[in-house]
Amino acid sequence: MAKITAGVTTSHVPAIGAAIDLGKTQEPYWAPVFKGYEFSKRWMADNRPDVVILVYNDHATAFSLDLIPTFAIGCAARFQPADEGWGPRPVPIVEGHPELASHIAQSVIQSDFDLTIVNKMDVDHGLTVPLSLMCGQPAAWPFRVIPFAVNVVQYPPPSGNRCYQLGKAILKAVESFDQDLTVQIWGTGGMSHQLQGPRAGLINKEFDQRFLDGLVADPAALATMPHINYIREAGSEGIELVMWLIMRGALDPLVREVYRFYHVPASNTAVGHLILENRAHGAR
Ligand code: DHB
Ligand code: FE
Repeated sequence: MAKITAGVTTSHVPAIGAAIDLGKTQEPYWAPVFKGYEFSKRWMADNRPDVVILVYNDHATAFSLDLIPTFAIGCAARFQPADEGWGPRPVPIVEGHPELASHIAQSVIQSDFDLTIVNKMDVDHGLTVPLSLMCGQPAAWPFRVIPFAVNVVQYPPPSGNRCYQLGKAILKAVESFDQDLTVQIWGTGGMSHQLQGPRAGLINKEFDQRFLDGLVADPAALATMPHINYIREAGSEGIELVMWLIMRGALDPLVREVYRFYHVPASNTAVGHLILENRAHGAR
């Protein structure tokens, strides 16, 4: 039986990827950001999963405005880092897990969630920056990754509650897979940020702290928050936070908060990061 042991949330700011790739992590602006992930890299080495289900959003890279799936699961054997305009990031190819991904597609679709099945796509900073933050710069990523893309770019994005319930359906799918696999689920993007318009640069630390607390302790209540509150309080790109509710829905109701990090700013964004372990599986 496959089991989900832990969940991770982290922002995915593309400038973080550039700072790593260009050797700037020790510069005064970036050093505090990367210091916040030192514990996480050690935890990752001690708690290496077989597979990570990586919930992220594509930023009009693999999908254009011609075609916008609300939820898309990557079932391919491998995914190339995308060229987002400056050439692909110098990071390893992402190895997928077609068997588990196909099983999740079957189980989740037949649990009434419509997923788009993707057999070929490149993955952008939304997916590769969280991998770099959690794993550093290895020659190969130390686990398989199932990309799970969510539309938060073109209105309307899915509701927080839909995402939370989808997480539960993913848990059911993983637990009914007949190979002994250790699986983590990551929810990426966020926290408060707005990249354009008169409110560009918006950061809301109070909202972010409430979101972190609610995600850990009372996710069902947090899931009822409507879109307009995300946009009003966390900025237009703050809507990326609905993806964290997919991660949380796939964990046990009671989790152990192993680690929390919050830092402002990284580029235009408030960086938030949690490591949550399922009490049943996560004890070391
Ligand atoms: C920034 C943040 C994002 O989430 C993104 O997708 C692009 C840019 C930023 O803060 O610069
Ligand atoms: Fe983003």
